[in-house]
Amino acid sequence: MSRSFFIQTVGCQMNVLDSELLAAELCRHGHETAESLRCADIVLFNTCSVREHAEEKIYSALGRLKNAKDYNPRKIIGVVGCMAQKDGQLIFRRAPHVDLVVGPGRFHRLPELLDAVAKGRGPCLDVSLDRADGDKRAVRESFVPFTPWRDGPVRAAPHQAMVRIMSGCNQFCSYCVVPGVRGPEQSRPAVEIIDEIRRLADGECLEITLLGQTVNSYKDVSGRKTIVLADLLEMIDAVEGLRRVKFVTNHPRFMTGALLEAVRDLPKVSPYLHVPAQSGSDSVLRRMKRGYDAAAYREMIDRIRLTIPGAAVTSDFIVGFCGETEEDFQRTADLVRSARFKNSFIFKYSPRPNTKAAELYADDVPDSVKRRRNNELLAIQNAVSLEDNRPYEGRTVEILVEGPSKTARKRNDGSSQLVGRTACDRIVVFHGPRELIGRIIPVRIDKVDAFTLFGSYGDSMNAG
Ligand code: SAH
Ligand code: SF4
Ligand code: F3S
Repeated sequence: MSRSFFIQTVGCQMNVLDSELLAAELCRHGHETAESLRCADIVLFNTCSVREHAEEKIYSALGRLKNAKDYNPRKIIGVVGCMAQKDGQLIFRRAPHVDLVVGPGRFHRLPELLDAVAKGRGPCLDVSLDRADGDKRAVRESFVPFTPWRDGPVRAAPHQAMVRIMSGCNQFCSYCVVPGVRGPEQSRPAVEIIDEIRRLADGECLEITLLGQTVNSYKDVSGRKTIVLADLLEMIDAVEGLRRVKFVTNHPRFMTGALLEAVRDLPKVSPYLHVPAQSGSDSVLRRMKRGYDAAAYREMIDRIRLTIPGAAVTSDFIVGFCGETEEDFQRTADLVRSARFKNSFIFKYSPRPNTKAAELYADDVPDSVKRRRNNELLAIQNAVSLEDNRPYEGRTVEILVEGPSKTARKRNDGSSQLVGRTACDRIVVFHGPRELIGRIIPVRIDKVDAFTLFGSYGDSMNAG
């Protein structure tokens, strides 16, 4: 029976993509999208476990739905994604009105499980094997890659799409839940990826973002010849109609010369590299089990600057990790000053159950210190971002117009402020007609701040 559904998504781009794929699957099974969580027959929370705060928010949202079935007895409440995999049965105990818990390795079964719940056979739980609960092969096979085709309407914009090229992670950084909740690394066969990208480009899609937790360790060994990310990029660059390719997230250990040369030489590949450092202190990096030291990271930055002049590099940092001293933190601050990231995402360390760090080290940096370090690092990064945006004033850049700007969306009065991005991922805000959405156009930059370039288009480009 057809039901309306609403998916609430938190977490990384992997989750945003999963929600699109789930929506496409549900539509294929005859369900339809609902306007809001409140009026939907099926509510799915696609969850994240990377920090405690993200989980707490989901449990509060679930709490608010406690009486929802009094108003709509057909209502089905599901918790899917990373927290479903991590907490499993615990979710039913904390929120007994939940009908369905499905991990990211079991999404292919979601329509079937929803039917079972609708027929009164709930509650249902389907998660992948824990790494400790089976041999390597059984664990891998329990994380089934989820890559169904999705039609345009479920994507946020027809001219942009994310494409998964790998799932899972084998790195086991000591603080991180991802290898546990997403399972072992599995690369998707290149032929399948190229086929999906061709179909997207045959539609209106101009820009593809390739997704993987360690996207640059991509390795397809299914054919006669091993295909690594540099090879895959070359194949994608040849896809007709496509204009831009980005890929996230890179791990510093796999930033090969061949990959940097591919980014330099392939015209459609954006000179934009998200390659998180996490810390600038050797002892912290060692405890994080990142597999490189600060000197190796700096050397990698030098190689990027030498090979791809003008490339935008971005990073993630965790402040207040176990045992982080003021001196360790200053090393991180120095790295942010010297590496000149376009921007950095900065997080306060959040201890996670079943990780090596939680097992081995005390969470001994007080929250007030974490907060101060977070703010300090952000201020240093913002000063760098502003300095590096300055030279854009007066320059003309090519942008892909994504849609109305945040301000225009908030006002919702048809105001003409639009937002787009340069190939190196800089955000550009300007005034122009909505017909420009989904086009690649030149914009003259008039003014900048640390986060945004403000420009003008068309006739107004030459004014002033
Ligand atoms: N695979 C990517 C992203 C992983 S999660 C990578 O390797 O970089 C995104 C970011 O969340 C990480 O880069 C890290 O900075 C942060 N993060 C992960 N676990 C965390 C934790 N326990 N506490 C705080 N931040 C964390
Ligand atoms: Fe987590 Fe490290 Fe894997 Fe990134 S590389 S997902 S931080 S374990
Ligand atoms: Fe969160 Fe899962 Fe992504 S834990 S960061 S949603 S892979």
